[in-house]
Amino acid sequence: MEITNVMEYEPIAKLKLPKMVYDYYASGSEDQWTLKENRNAFSRILFRPRILIDVTNIDMTTTVLGFKISMPIMIAPTAMQKMAHPEGELATARAASSAGTIMTLSSWATSSVEEVASTGPGIRFFQLYVYKDRHVVAQLVKRAERAGFKAIALTVDTPWLGRREADIKNRFVLPRHLTLKNFEGLDLGQMDKTDDSGLASYAASQVDRSLSWKDVKWLQTITSLPILVKGVLTAEDARIAVQSGAAGIIVSNHGARQLDYVPATIMALEEVVKAAQGRIPVFLDGGVRRGTDVFKAMALGASGVFIGRPVLFSLASDGEAGVRKVLQMLHDEFELTMALSGCQLTQGDYSQPRAD
Ligand code: FNR
Repeated sequence: MEITNVMEYEPIAKLKLPKMVYDYYASGSEDQWTLKENRNAFSRILFRPRILIDVTNIDMTTTVLGFKISMPIMIAPTAMQKMAHPEGELATARAASSAGTIMTLSSWATSSVEEVASTGPGIRFFQLYVYKDRHVVAQLVKRAERAGFKAIALTVDTPWLGRREADIKNRFVLPRHLTLKNFEGLDLGQMDKTDDSGLASYAASQVDRSLSWKDVKWLQTITSLPILVKGVLTAEDARIAVQSGAAGIIVSNHGARQLDYVPATIMALEEVVKAAQGRIPVFLDGGVRRGTDVFKAMALGASGVFIGRPVLFSLASDGEAGVRKVLQMLHDEFELTMALSGCQLTQGDYSQPRAD
């Protein structure tokens, strides 16, 4: 069957993947209210298209932290991609690179920063979970830097792992033939089976629950890479992020996998954008499945968006080609949305079409 939109990969992935893996990828936490709301909130936002504007040429290129990319659509960090496909993060890295956009590699990837770097050129960010052992963190950040990663996305919404009930029921654990590659040499690459979610137990034993704003400052003492604070949902925290020297903010609710009953990210975006006062760029992830979603985020002040699950489901269905196709479909849909709403430039003004 021909795939004509991003969402069509999910049922294919569901058929292909072991239940434990599909559930881990698809689930939100607890009642999964926020999971549905991340999508529903987009569907409540409607367009006011402008007409009779020359849309022969649409320029979707944009600049993120000084790096020029083909479109404001990037890849969010998602853990353990080799459960989806044997090439895992390596396939994702190649697909992002050929689409001319940025991939963010998870701390909990099943491929190391060095392996991902060896796939070839490409602009890549590294997502960081801060472990209690700060030597581990410092080493990892240095390795990412040396491997050519261009920014650190510091995840700040996961001091405790959210309650993902499917993972508890499935006794989720990383399959034995895989490891959390970045931690392999440190003897922290395996996940033990428990009578709970194995990941929840692993996170509880390793992740530093005391993480606070002073650690954002500390991180700046161990790396010169720009730091994106991933997981901001309020104006209050946006202001502190600016003061703490963050290079950018990612409005994220972790794909609705952490605190349930937080608003959809597209609803939280405006207050964060307002609080950042244009001093640092604000990005968004969560529920982005259509070019129209990308446009809505940009129109509400985002400098770009990231996608999570669409990458996992397309990777599971068709490897690198699947991820390429997801990026191409979102590219084409975003371009069409720009054209039909009267916008020529991604970096232009979305609300004030010109009468030229
Ligand atoms: C994630 N996410 C995530 N975030 C992070 O900072 N580090 C990580 O290792 C992971 N791992 C992860 C695994 C899976 C299976 C999912 C679905 C998500 C969150 C991710 O970066 C992003 O915030 C969301 O996935 C965005 O929402 P969508 O696009 O999945 O709706």
